[in-house]
Amino acid sequence: MILSIESSCDDTSIAITEIKNAKLLFHTKISQETIHSTYGGVVPEIASRLHAQELPNLLAKAKKFLNDSLSPIKAIAITTQPGLSVTLIEGLVMAKALSLCLNIPLISINHLKGHIFSLFIDKKESIFPLTTLLVSGGHTMIIESESPFKMSIKAQSLDDSFGESFDKVSKMLSLGYPGGPIVEKYALNYQGDLIPYPLPLRHFKEIAFSFSGLKNAVRLSIEKILSINEYIDEKNRARICASFQQVAINHLFMQLQKYFVKQIELKKPIKDFCIVGGASANLVLREKITQLCKAYNVKLHLPSLEFCSDNAAMIGRYAIEKYNQKLFSNIYSLQALPKSSIEEFIS
Ligand code: KG4
Ligand code: ZN
Repeated sequence: MILSIESSCDDTSIAITEIKNAKLLFHTKISQETIHSTYGGVVPEIASRLHAQELPNLLAKAKKFLNDSLSPIKAIAITTQPGLSVTLIEGLVMAKALSLCLNIPLISINHLKGHIFSLFIDKKESIFPLTTLLVSGGHTMIIESESPFKMSIKAQSLDDSFGESFDKVSKMLSLGYPGGPIVEKYALNYQGDLIPYPLPLRHFKEIAFSFSGLKNAVRLSIEKILSINEYIDEKNRARICASFQQVAINHLFMQLQKYFVKQIELKKPIKDFCIVGGASANLVLREKITQLCKAYNVKLHLPSLEFCSDNAAMIGRYAIEKYNQKLFSNIYSLQALPKSSIEEFIS
């Protein structure tokens, strides 16, 4: 079994995965959302302290699951990048201590690559080659994966990420954190005319993403309402959420469509495509990309809603691939890297 730890942002999570059949045996997670919600976003220092407090509790639960013996654990997997340095370190320290005490290998996992493996939790086989749209709180990317170890970034955001733009819109409307599910819910309940926010990168030839212009357009529309009214009422909040969400998703759709077409022109048509990351839980996005994949005869894979957001189960699932190739890390030199380097991504 592999014991995996995830603490790259505001979710503390530990999982145990069976190596032979990739079966998820145990998974536990504590989300800090309610605490950070008061501040309208993640406060790294608080997140770090909460990880330090909760990791031993989750480990105790995992140990109890194993009838008080960690002896079936053959490796420790840990997210080392990217993420918040002060939170990554909390998990890494525990992983190193466990690896040292149990005398078992340490496997370092890139969080972004880990999200791709959320598709294969509890599945023995993985699917490669695979094209991915990663939409998380920090990243919006198209990733081509030839294998678990050969991945490359084909397009990414020039500024904010898709998930982050939901968080910011929610914050501007004082709706709380994380913004994704809140904005989606407000949008769902709205049936009326939409504000015509501009579609990002409409005339941009390259394939890329951008959300800062859209975010700014939302800010200006809020200011406009506030110049006439004292506050933003529920109807206007829902109208802003629905209008923003539609344009943000249309933007992803347009850029992906360009990518699909480009791959056909290059005679490398996409066969298997997936959306992963926290924002892949958005049902409107799922529906829209399902339509796109149907139109281009592409097979779409989606993670179960439970494993879209950060979790240790996906980290454990990816670690099996590394374990089988004996890709272990040195306990003394392994470091937490807040920013994932492009070189690491390719290796
Ligand atoms: O992958 P994740 O859990 O954490 C990071 O690695 O960043 O992604 C969190 C992000 C947050 O920005 C959150 O607002 C967004 O995913 N998100 C959503 C939805 N659920 C979560 N964005 C849009 N729609 C959603 N339903
Ligand atoms: Zn994530």
